[in-house]
Amino acid sequence: MANYKIAVIPGDGIGPEVVHEGLKVLGAAAAKTGVTFDFEHYDLGGERYLRTEETLPDAVLDELRGFDAIYLGAVGHPEVAPGILEKQLLLRLRFELDQYINLRPVKLYPGVETPLRDKGPEEIDFVIVRENTEGLYSGMGGIQYKGTPHEVSTQIHMTTRFGAERCIRYAFDLTRKRDRAKKLTLCGKTNVLTFVHDTWFRAFHEVGEADYPDIERDYAHVDATTMWMVKNPEWFDVIVTENMFGDIITDLGAMIQGGLGVAAGGNINPEGVSMFEPIGGSAPKYTGQNVACPIAAISSTQMMMETLGEAETAARIERAVERALSSGRIESLAAGRMGMSTSEVGDMIAGFAAE
Ligand code: IPM
Ligand code: MN
Repeated sequence: MANYKIAVIPGDGIGPEVVHEGLKVLGAAAAKTGVTFDFEHYDLGGERYLRTEETLPDAVLDELRGFDAIYLGAVGHPEVAPGILEKQLLLRLRFELDQYINLRPVKLYPGVETPLRDKGPEEIDFVIVRENTEGLYSGMGGIQYKGTPHEVSTQIHMTTRFGAERCIRYAFDLTRKRDRAKKLTLCGKTNVLTFVHDTWFRAFHEVGEADYPDIERDYAHVDATTMWMVKNPEWFDVIVTENMFGDIITDLGAMIQGGLGVAAGGNINPEGVSMFEPIGGSAPKYTGQNVACPIAAISSTQMMMETLGEAETAARIERAVERALSSGRIESLAAGRMGMSTSEVGDMIAGFAAE
């Protein structure tokens, strides 16, 4: 039976509370399937930074390379200036571990309310594949003549053919594996970003034509993509897109699937160490109150199990989440309005996962 070494980074805000529930459910499901774990906790995040000025020491990064997967709660602290923890901790982990895919399913489960009138679980079930190591996130650029009337700032939209192509190939493979509409939509902005999105567009069609003749290729500009995600979400099977567009459209995706409380994500290096996290953030307002929805964190453990090849454990977690969502017992998935506490929701799902 498989045993996995998992690094746990609860992080900031509600991170520790939701990670606690994720581990509870994972443990309950794995006890049934025989999968075992060695967990190691790391106190990376805002508190440690405020105490020691450390975000991600090199020695810790090197240790993290030795795990089978990383489970992350949230990064972001109200007393730390924006950009520090994000760039030095979260983005550095994604880049250094070359987690070049950010996989974000948009799936509306039965019993969950969506703001889209007339749309239900039948219509809202697709996956967004976000490139996770390049684009506007590369950190290239700078500020010249700062603080003067001549201040100039640039933020370079760095794109490589290699980076676009490996992401596109991953998305084609996923579309094939899902075996649904077999349709892959490239989301870009070829009419304005005529350099970087030309690279993406050519890579998409060249790779698709050569190696994925069974997959339908579709293209949508990013602005139109947001429109269709609201108006006709059923048109999508898999969407592949660059880093910044992926960041933006996955928050919209989270909203139509019931909110940030249920939106899970995986930062995936198909050949290396992947990291799983709820996409919602640290929500400082709700910290320590036991009111945040833990479902996104729980579903992130499901994605971890899928990625590690533990399909049975993953399916057990998903079924447990589905049962809880359709039970009618959770009043709302919004933080503070669940009618249950974070740990009660975790207990209920862990109970189902153990059955
Ligand atoms: C996300 C977040 C991060 C991102 C931030 C916290 C750097 O918004 O995971 O979507 O922009 O990627
Ligand atoms: Mn985001």
